[in-house]
Amino acid sequence: MDIRLMKPSDIPHVQQANITNLPENYFCKYYLYHAMAWPQLSYVAVDTSRPQKTPYDYPKIVGYVLAKMEEDPSDGITHGHITSLSVMRTHRRLGLAEKLMRQSQRAMAESYGAHYVSLHVRVSNIAALHLYRDTLGFTNDKIESKYYADGEDAYSMRMDLSDIR
Ligand code: ACO
Repeated sequence: MDIRLMKPSDIPHVQQANITNLPENYFCKYYLYHAMAWPQLSYVAVDTSRPQKTPYDYPKIVGYVLAKMEEDPSDGITHGHITSLSVMRTHRRLGLAEKLMRQSQRAMAESYGAHYVSLHVRVSNIAALHLYRDTLGFTNDKIESKYYADGEDAYSMRMDLSDIR
């Protein structure tokens, strides 16, 4: 398995993974905006064990993190934001999400001087909450009522990046 920066040519595959794994989906141009505006922040996990039989075979993307810098932070503090993270079912519990997140967080701090990273997660998303809270060390900032289109609440979470900066 290889973790590398997301390239514009990965976007259709990342979009496919996003549609498969999450109900929050985005137009192609939004992925492109992330890749062009903050090229150091979004990463993909690629299954390198799959043989490339023809030059047209695209390496299988089994996970991604789509991330950005907050453009107009309401608190005035430079910080990053995780727009979306997912790993295909076939490749879960291998540590891929943790690696994707750590790479992106490091780049936020080192390349953009981010003081912290923020994200939203469904209150019912046990797996992601374990990852963010227990493995990575995020803390709950607040609950955002009816944040999602189906009415579910979100935890607004954040993690300090001063250890990396
Ligand atoms: N149950 C409990 N804890 C879990 C689970 C689970 N099913 N999956 C991961 N974790 C926690 C554990 O603490 C785990 O550490 P451990 O394996 O040492 O116990 C830790 O997370 C790291 O696990 P990874 O293997 O790195 O996580 P994985 O690659 O499996 O991906 C993810 C986790 C991204 C949440 C995956 O389950 C997924 O894609 N789910 C669907 C999409 C999703 O919910 N994305 C997050 C939405 S929020 C957002 O995008 C900002």
